[in-house]
Amino acid sequence: MGKPAGAFRGRRIPTALALAIGVLFGILVSRIFPWTATMPAWRSNHIPPKSHQQSRQPIQLPTLEQRRRVMTLLTSLTPHYTKECTRNAQPLYFQQVADRYAPLIGHKAPSSGSWFSSLFGDDDSHGRRDLIASDHKYFFAINLYNSFDIIPDLFATLFRVAAILGYHNVFVSIYENGSTDQTKALLRIFDALTRSVGMRITIRTSMRTRGAFNHRIEYLAEVRNAAFVPLHELRDSENEYFDTIVFMNDILPCIDDLLELIYQSRRNNAGITCAADYMYHEEIGSPVFYDNWVARDINGTALENAPFERIFHHQDSSQRFQRHLPIQVQSCWNGIAILDPAPFYSPPHVRFRMARITEGECSASECSLICNDYWEAGYGRIMMVPRVKLAYDRKVYDIIHPARRNLTAIRGYARMGGLPDDPRTDPQDRAWFGPHDRLFTEEENEPLNFVPGPSHVWCWGWDGAGDLDGPDVDPIWEHMSNKSMRADAVLVRHNRTIPNI
Ligand SMILES: *[C@@H]1O[C@H](CO)[C@@H](O)[C@H](O)[C@H]1NC(C)=O
Ligand SMILES: *[C@@H]1O[C@H](CO)[C@@H](O)[C@H](O)[C@H]1NC(C)=O
Ligand SMILES: *[C@@H]1O[C@H](CO)[C@@H](O)[C@H](O)[C@H]1NC(C)=O
Ligand SMILES: *[C@@H]1O[C@H](CO)[C@@H](O)[C@H](O)[C@H]1NC(C)=O
Ligand SMILES: *[C@@H]1O[C@H](CO)[C@@H](O)[C@H](O)[C@H]1NC(C)=O
Repeated sequence: MGKPAGAFRGRRIPTALALAIGVLFGILVSRIFPWTATMPAWRSNHIPPKSHQQSRQPIQLPTLEQRRRVMTLLTSLTPHYTKECTRNAQPLYFQQVADRYAPLIGHKAPSSGSWFSSLFGDDDSHGRRDLIASDHKYFFAINLYNSFDIIPDLFATLFRVAAILGYHNVFVSIYENGSTDQTKALLRIFDALTRSVGMRITIRTSMRTRGAFNHRIEYLAEVRNAAFVPLHELRDSENEYFDTIVFMNDILPCIDDLLELIYQSRRNNAGITCAADYMYHEEIGSPVFYDNWVARDINGTALENAPFERIFHHQDSSQRFQRHLPIQVQSCWNGIAILDPAPFYSPPHVRFRMARITEGECSASECSLICNDYWEAGYGRIMMVPRVKLAYDRKVYDIIHPARRNLTAIRGYARMGGLPDDPRTDPQDRAWFGPHDRLFTEEENEPLNFVPGPSHVWCWGWDGAGDLDGPDVDPIWEHMSNKSMRADAVLVRHNRTIPNI
């Protein structure tokens, strides 16, 4: 073996990923950039029609070398907020990540690829030599509003994640509404950069405001649906279908956060997969779980804006939560949601919507309603991944991503002799907000055993009639449809399993 298996030990993930990206790009270039008949699917690179090409001064396409330089630049963009995520990740975590997400790589590994064995170590034992490049297609839908501050981080993360999933497998759709800062200008720059490396992106901006809508939720649903418009356009015009949707608010995930959500979503063939989001609670003096307007446990009970051990009322869920294990829920959103697109494509054509108030439906969030509609459509496999913790600001971000401390420093003395410390039993990983590089356990790989939905779900309506900026109707236990309580509401209907795991 040319390089020692542990060549990457101790390096920061971004560096290693950047390296991987560099090498992947070499392979990618040869597959993507020959200007052949397969190109027209690539809208942003769309070859001008013949007639234009025959004009006297044809558009000069950049050379591969020129594109490579732009690509290197883009994937080495340093995020401002999220750069700490994987700083000093422990070597074992890094190995686990490389192994865990290798099957998501969207580029074909050369049969005796030296880059592959050097990155993923002794691959023979895993049979990874046969790894087939994944052609699973991802649709990223993002809503932005006055997001100037986070756009550089967002794109730095997107470029890296797309380099792993395969640029040709990723489509980014951004819908921006009525920003009053320089968001639009910054988006134009990133739009151009993204296109320059051949990644597909649609950015639509609007000055539309709530004005025309009577109902608060109706407006929010329209803003979300607007980010999905290209999904339907691509199906209609190019017959292109996506396999997974990644829906993001203006939030700052780490690269491995996104990969883990995608991994769990596909591993479990989940309809909807969400993270856990946190907000600072002044009275408690600590971050608490945030999105309790949408999140409901599998008994239909709301999650609480409370510390760790009191977030879930459902006992089994609470125990799993405290062990950072994936949990089946009735509904959740929490900043990022990975969606199975199938219910968008096939009848009854799920979309974001407001409640059917005239039919007596409780006026819940458009995100709760889409969860209910997934159940109704037979895609009730909804889950939350507590390992992935998201923050909306720097303060909470820093608290929930503490640096890993050295055990010698924690103990206060150096141990003489004995066995080395086992990184799998590090007490910091049992803490509520432990280090980001918590090692994966076997249990985190076990598929969830999904059960049918609850008969009643706690609903807090928001009619938006008054000025209250939040739910304004007395909460009720809303009766769920009979369909969502049947076993076939949680059957696997669209198999998105990752091969080779
Ligand atoms: C734009 O949409 C967001 C929700 O995505 C909303 O919070 C914001 O108020 C909207 N902006 C305007 C100007 O209406
Ligand atoms: C752990 O911390 C101690 C004291 O702060 C230091 O001497 C030692 O080199 C550190 N070990 C590692 C592996 O960083
Ligand atoms: C489970 O749901 C029922 C309503 O269907 C509710 O009365 C009960 O309190 C819930 N149990 C827990 C532990 O949340
Ligand atoms: C739902 O189930 C209940 C009890 O099994 C039944 O009485 C009711 O008619 C059903 N509703 C619908 C819409 O099928
Ligand atoms: C999904 O497909 C894989 C093969 O691609 C197969 O092994 C697996 O059993 C399928 N899962 C279900 C639930 O059908």
